[in-house]
Amino acid sequence: MEYIVINGGKRLEGEVYVSGAKNAAVAIIPAAIAANGVCVIENLPYIEDVEGLTKAMTQIGAVCTLRDDHTLEIDSRNITNCCADYESVRKIRASYYLLGVLLGRFGQAEVPMPGGCNFGVRPIDQHIKGLTAMGATINIEHGMIKARADRLVGTNIFLDVVSVGATINIMLAAIYAEGVTVIENAAKEPHVVDTANFLNILGARVKGAGTDVIRITGVQELHGGTYTIIPDQIESGTYMIAAAVTGGDVTIRNIIPKHMESVISKLSEMKCQVSTGSDYVRVQGGGDLRSVNVKTMPYPGYPTDLQPQMTALLCKTKGTGILTETVWENRFQYINELKRLGANIKVDGRTAVVSGDSNLTGAQVNATDLRAGAALVIAALAAKGETTIGNVRYIDRGYERIEQKLGSLGADIRRVHREA
Ligand code: UD1
Repeated sequence: MEYIVINGGKRLEGEVYVSGAKNAAVAIIPAAIAANGVCVIENLPYIEDVEGLTKAMTQIGAVCTLRDDHTLEIDSRNITNCCADYESVRKIRASYYLLGVLLGRFGQAEVPMPGGCNFGVRPIDQHIKGLTAMGATINIEHGMIKARADRLVGTNIFLDVVSVGATINIMLAAIYAEGVTVIENAAKEPHVVDTANFLNILGARVKGAGTDVIRITGVQELHGGTYTIIPDQIESGTYMIAAAVTGGDVTIRNIIPKHMESVISKLSEMKCQVSTGSDYVRVQGGGDLRSVNVKTMPYPGYPTDLQPQMTALLCKTKGTGILTETVWENRFQYINELKRLGANIKVDGRTAVVSGDSNLTGAQVNATDLRAGAALVIAALAAKGETTIGNVRYIDRGYERIEQKLGSLGADIRRVHREA
C-alpha cells in the first residue's frame, strides 16, 4: 500500500509546471479512434486514468505507443473490435467516450457502465438521449451499454442539464453522422473546446465549442494529426490553493490564465495577491485571508473539481465560508476526513459551512476520491505535525508526481510503501 506523508507548516515558494489536462486527455485519447490514421498527442499527463484508457484502446485494436516525452501515438487504422474491456475501464468515468466514438465510426459499440469517482448518482441519460435522437438503438445489459446504428443522422439535441460528458460524447458520435448535429445547452468547459479543436485538426467540422451551441457537420473521413493538450485547469487551481493555504509565494507555469478566472477571483476576494502573465499565475498568500462564499457552477463558474480543495483552504481563513455544491448531489464525503485533521464544518444537503481559524493537526486520513485526496493534501500542508494519507491511488488518477511537484516548492512530503 502506498501513502503520502506530509509534515505540515512549510511555506511553499518557487515555480511549478502544470501537466496536460486530465479531462481533456481522457476525451482526446478515445477521440483518436475517429481517425483513420495516426494521431500524436502531446503534453499528455502521466496519470492512472490515461494509463487505463490507453490499455482499453490497445485492447480494441488501436496501436498505442507511449513515449517518455509526454507524447502518445495512436494508430486507429486497424480497430479490431468495438467492445471495451471491463477491467481496463471500470475505474474510469470517461470510458463512456468510447461509446460515442466507436458508434460514430463503426455503427456499433459495447462499453461497460462508467466507473470513476463516486459523487452519488451519475446518470448518463443525456448521452443516451443524444445518441438515440441521432438514430442509435441503445440497451443496457449485464453492466454493458450496447449501442448500434445502421446510420446516424444529424439532428437538434437540447441537453436538459449542462453535461461535459454528454456534450463530448454526442460530438464524437456526430463526426460521421449525415448532415448537421446541433447540441444546445452544451457544456463550455475548456476540455470540450480542446476536444473540438483536436477533432478539427483531423478534418472534422465542429463549430461553436466554448459557447452553448455546438454545430457538427458530418464528414466522410478523419485523417491523423498532431495535437497538444491544454494545461490542466484543476491541477493549476490545486497548486494556487496550496500556495494560499501555506501563506506561500508560488508561480504556477504552463497554464492558461483565462481558464483560472473564477479561482483568481475567489482568491483575490480572500485578499490573496494574485497576478498573471501570458502563461502563468503567481499567488502570494501572506497575512490573514478572509473567508468567502463559493458556489460551484459549470464553466466559466467556479469548478466543482476545485470545491474540496477550497473547503480545505477555508478551514484556515478568518470567518465563516459557505460552500454550495450545485453540480454533484453528494460531493462532501471527504469532509469527515478533513474533520479528523481538526476542521470545523457543518454539512446540510448541498451546503457546507466552514469555520475558519481551525487548528489543523496531522492525523491518519484516507482519500475518498481524486479531488478529496487533493483537499487532504492541502489541509495537511497547513496542519501541524504529520499527516498520512491513504488511498493514494485516487490522487494518482489525476495528479502527475504530486509529491515531487509540491516537494520542489518546499513541502515536506514523501510517498511511502507500507504493508497493508
Ligand atoms: C466531468 C468531469 C468531472 C467534473 C464534471 C463536472 C471528465 C472526465 N470529468 O464529468 O471531473 O466533476 O464534468 O464539471 O471530464 N448529468 C445528468 N445526465 C447525464 C449526464 C450528467 O443528469 O447524462 C448530470 C450529473 O449528474 C451532474 C451534471 O449533470 O449533476 C454534470 O455532469 P457532467 O458534466 O456530465 O459530468 P461528467 O462529464 O461525468
